Amino acid sequence: MFESPRPQETIAQQPTELQYPPEWHIERIDQYFRKQQHGLGLTDALMKDKKILDVGAGGREFAAGVLLNHITEEIYSLEPGLSEHFQQTFTPDRTAEEVRDIVNKRKQRIGHLPPEIQEKINQKTVVALGEQAPFRNNFFDIVVATCVNYADGNIQQLAERLCELLAVGKEVRIAPVGSENPYPQFAEHPMNKKFFDQALILAREKMPFDFEYQTTSEEYHPDYLQPRGPENPRLLLKNEVLILRKRLAD
Ligand SMILES: C[S@@+](CC[C@H](N)C(=O)[O-])C[C@H]1O[C@@H](n2cnc3c(N)ncnc32)[C@H](O)[C@@H]1O
Repeated sequence: MFESPRPQETIAQQPTELQYPPEWHIERIDQYFRKQQHGLGLTDALMKDKKILDVGAGGREFAAGVLLNHITEEIYSLEPGLSEHFQQTFTPDRTAEEVRDIVNKRKQRIGHLPPEIQEKINQKTVVALGEQAPFRNNFFDIVVATCVNYADGNIQQLAERLCELLAVGKEVRIAPVGSENPYPQFAEHPMNKKFFDQALILAREKMPFDFEYQTTSEEYHPDYLQPRGPENPRLLLKNEVLILRKRLAD
């Protein structure tokens, strides 16, 4: 859809990302969105005209892709890292400043989009943690969370809050789950499937939902979160999505 001319490259002058035309950036944002969408096991048809919330939205490429492809106008992004006052860190190997820096760099990416799309993304962006998401209950049709690095203990709260936001029968989709981790030091990591299961069983005592893991069609973010090796490990992420479906109380 976003066919763009190759940037003018010469041997003497290798262009930096900044020198590329907006079409180049838009194409990459769209590719990134498609990866996220596959990882969540979603399609345009499943998302059509739905009210969708992206939790831990990072650079908000998901909202950008949804709007660029005219899937729905009702796309909301929740990202705590957009706040200057964000002090929490969720990764074992990054400080809050580093996370904030990454989010702010990625924020510049959507600056290449047409101004009307940027405005729509900004109008529906909320700076908050998922577990404190300030929306009306029963509002969303789909809540997604991709590559969110859950802090110890917050999955339970997060699952409860995200399910509250959903109408009955609707879904939260969390990907990746990182269940097949080659590093023993991550056995108890929040992204571990066992950890998710335990937290979700506890969360279910307050909020009625069912959960299941589904295999998606392709490897998730293969070039993004690969393990860097035992001396500097990252999570190995599998092509799996965790789906929480809200149901009526028993
Ligand atoms: C690795 S980035 C992924 C961003 C984006 N979802 C993507 O797929 O590119 C993880 C993001 O999750 C956010 N995050 C971590 N814990 C969160 C929470 N409890 N609620 C909301 N966002 C959270 C972080 O601020 C960070 O921007």
